[in-house]
Amino acid sequence: MSRATAEAPANIAFIKYWGAREGSRALPLNRSISMTLESCRSTTTVEVLGDGRRHEILYADGDGPFGAAAGRFAERIRGHLAELLGWTGEAGLGLRVATRNSFPAGAGLASSASGFAALTVATLAALGHRPLERISPGELSSLARRSGSGSAARSVIGGFVEWPAEGDESKGEGNGGGDGGDGNDGGGTDDPRAAQVAPAGHWELADVIAVVEEGPKRVSSLEGHRRATTSPHYARRLELLPERLAAVRRAIRERDLARLGPVLEAEAIELHLIAMSSRPPIFYWQPATLAVLAAVRELRAPGLGLDAWATMDAGANVHVICPFGQASEVAARLLRTAGVRRVLRDRVGTGPRMHGDPEGGGADA
Ligand code: PMV
Repeated sequence: MSRATAEAPANIAFIKYWGAREGSRALPLNRSISMTLESCRSTTTVEVLGDGRRHEILYADGDGPFGAAAGRFAERIRGHLAELLGWTGEAGLGLRVATRNSFPAGAGLASSASGFAALTVATLAALGHRPLERISPGELSSLARRSGSGSAARSVIGGFVEWPAEGDESKGEGNGGGDGGDGNDGGGTDDPRAAQVAPAGHWELADVIAVVEEGPKRVSSLEGHRRATTSPHYARRLELLPERLAAVRRAIRERDLARLGPVLEAEAIELHLIAMSSRPPIFYWQPATLAVLAAVRELRAPGLGLDAWATMDAGANVHVICPFGQASEVAARLLRTAGVRRVLRDRVGTGPRMHGDPEGGGADA
């Protein structure tokens, strides 16, 4: 096949990846666990132009028109194409890439995760590799993160996903067997590979995203990973993580939001504590971020009693995790919070799929 279109979702981290030994290769210093989303997606078409041709890279935001991608963004895509073409042994090939996001790019909504996951799947498909059928999820996760977007390693897999740290020999409890991979999944050493903890159908969780900032963030997560270890609180974070990881795995296994929620909030606050105490410090929050955090506590107060818990990635926007059945009410109430520009409703999803695939693809088996 010389042309293919793939869609891949963003994900929201329950346990955050924050800190990388080598940012450009996204070798994580800690394990992370995330939930793959359904509606926040990147759609990417890749066409083979031929040997010796230059890559053409086009980008569109939302329903906007396509334009030539420029600067650092285009450079990262070229870098990723070089990695993928190196892997397939077709280094001289020129490709045309056209990618579109269904949500605001670069605002802490994991656009790089969905973008690099979709780029990986579409490129490999255009080159004839049938990635969702013939490449194991672990291998696909390794390929997706090669040019620096670590969280893309989790976006190629549906449901609830765990990604080990570099040099992490031990398989996590409940990790590694879920996706029927190649036997290396989940137990990364120098090439940490993500693995499914539970499929999307296991737990009907919604993610209601309160958007308080639409533009790109001022400091990239790549730079945040680089600075993380300069925080005096970083070493303590690594000590606390094993217990938190175990609590999140257990909460997923038992579908226990009362157990998951407090860990989610502690993790999000700690990610930002590390960022704010890095040298130089990074402030992602906006005043409206705090207003949403307060509103979420109100949602849980007696009277309303909703099961809603907040988390944030590297940005000002707040993801509110709740059961499917509560998402409409949570969304309506968040919309009334000062500073919230709009609310995106998402939910746990089944992972990437090919366009034109009657079975819908998906790495959620
Ligand atoms: O994949 P990156 O380099 O954009 O880093 C993602 C970092 C966080 O979103 C803050 C946490 C995570 O695990 O997704």
